[in-house]
Amino acid sequence: MSELKDFGRMFRLDGKVALVTGGSRGLGLHAATAFLLAGAEKVIISARKNEGPQGIDQAVEKLNKLNVSGKAVGIAANVADTEDIARLVKKVEETDGKLDILVCNAGATWGGPFEPTPDWSSKKVLDLNVRGVFNLARLFAPLLAKAGTRQDPSRIIIVSSTAGVTVPHVGDHGTIMYSVSKAAAHHMSRQLAVELGPRNITTNTIAPGFFPSKLANGLIELLGGEEELKDWNPRKRLGEPEDIAGVMVYLASPAGSYVNGEDICIDGGVRYAQGRQSKL
Ligand SMILES: NC(=O)c1ccc[n+]([C@@H]2O[C@H](COP(=O)([O-])OP(=O)(O)OC[C@H]3O[C@@H](n4cnc5c(N)ncnc54)[C@H](OP(=O)(O)O)[C@@H]3O)[C@@H](O)[C@H]2O)c1
Repeated sequence: MSELKDFGRMFRLDGKVALVTGGSRGLGLHAATAFLLAGAEKVIISARKNEGPQGIDQAVEKLNKLNVSGKAVGIAANVADTEDIARLVKKVEETDGKLDILVCNAGATWGGPFEPTPDWSSKKVLDLNVRGVFNLARLFAPLLAKAGTRQDPSRIIIVSSTAGVTVPHVGDHGTIMYSVSKAAAHHMSRQLAVELGPRNITTNTIAPGFFPSKLANGLIELLGGEEELKDWNPRKRLGEPEDIAGVMVYLASPAGSYVNGEDICIDGGVRYAQGRQSKL
């Protein structure tokens, strides 16, 4: 037998403060839910809109109905805007004085034919998916460094996409700049792993395949709908909330403390089913 220290706490987040951008719905809300269920003391969710059926307020209300001791709070911020990120950092500093887990999840996509691509669409995608992630990491680094230790570092988890490691869609619904932005996110995480590792902050990337969500549903329909995509997938299904929850908790908890600069694809292996998603 080997002496595994504190194995019972290996996947626990007790006492941790986490912030999830884009936490009001979709993958971000799956992550926020998982963190609270794993024992996090506080989960701050951020998005642009407070109100409405997909806004921050309804998500906070749902999260606070979980039967756990941790609490959810919301802070509205546009994380493509550097001043807004600075404001978000200041608020977290005032209320918590530290941050243990930063999930850079908010993302934007755009699809369309190659030559008429409007320049605004490339700016929108790069501003949020690349520059925004960089500035979140940069401006939150002092608060993350305050919380991390050599044995239990703080965590940055970047939500990228399998589009960052494949050429998924070209033609009429091409997503070239989205794909490029996600590839940049992967490489950013490796850079941050080396830059911030010595400050007791690890950085890793999660690259999801298709999970039904507001962002993905349009493209899922264009590709033939859920049933067709399930059939293409070696696991014969699309992603489900638990698939995100499991990898998020692994990377954020003691179990993931020595993992730094890695990409984990969560796609059932469909990226290896060569060329099939490039049919468009
Ligand atoms: N779903 C998939 O199949 C899939 C696959 C691969 C990768 N991903 C990635 O996963 C991440 C989450 O996607 P999702 O599918 O969960 O999308 P979603 O359901 O549309 O949720 C996006 C979230 O981001 C927020 N958001 C958007 N722009 C923002 C901004 N400028 N500042 C702050 N918050 C912003 C949205 O709230 P507001 O609109 O109120 O701001 C919302 O909370 C993205 O990075 C996406 O690229 C998703």
